[in-house]
Amino acid sequence: MPDKIERTLVIIKPDGLQRNLLGEVISRFEKKGLKITALKMMQLSDVLLDEHYAHHKDKPFFNDLKGFMKSAPCVAAVLEGYNAISAVRLLVGPTKGYEADAGSIRGDLCISGSSNIVHASDSPENTEKEVFRFFNNDELFKYKKIDYDYLYSEKEKGTE
Ligand code: CMP
Repeated sequence: MPDKIERTLVIIKPDGLQRNLLGEVISRFEKKGLKITALKMMQLSDVLLDEHYAHHKDKPFFNDLKGFMKSAPCVAAVLEGYNAISAVRLLVGPTKGYEADAGSIRGDLCISGSSNIVHASDSPENTEKEVFRFFNNDELFKYKKIDYDYLYSEKEKGTE
């Protein structure tokens, strides 16, 4: 996979909202240098969750996962940055909070194996599907951030 400026989808889950961590989590993404190009609060439906978690539908935790994701609104966002998919996965940390390194969002902010605050896309193919699962084209914003010239080298900017 070539190094390039790319986008990724994140969802701040109901535990993030209920535990007053929205600002903290979004702030970590902003401070990293990621550009927010879409952001909205949503009550997730069965239809959307069945599609989003289709790869987990035979897992014993599937119904609990759906119940958890419907228990309060979520906040979905599209983030853009250099190698954003892997950079955001590192910031978020592995699935289980109790195994996540200190410094990561899950490592610092949760201890559960399932109530783990954030979802982040895991591949370019899934990102594109997930972006359009949560957002319409007219909800995706294109703009230049004023820190852009200081975040990236000329070579990195050429990958946009
Ligand atoms: P995430 O990796 O974002 O997407 C799948 C979600 O399923 C995961 O976060 C957890 O929230 C949840 N999950 C994964 N494994 C388990 C499990 N063993 N028990 C309950 N929930 C789980």
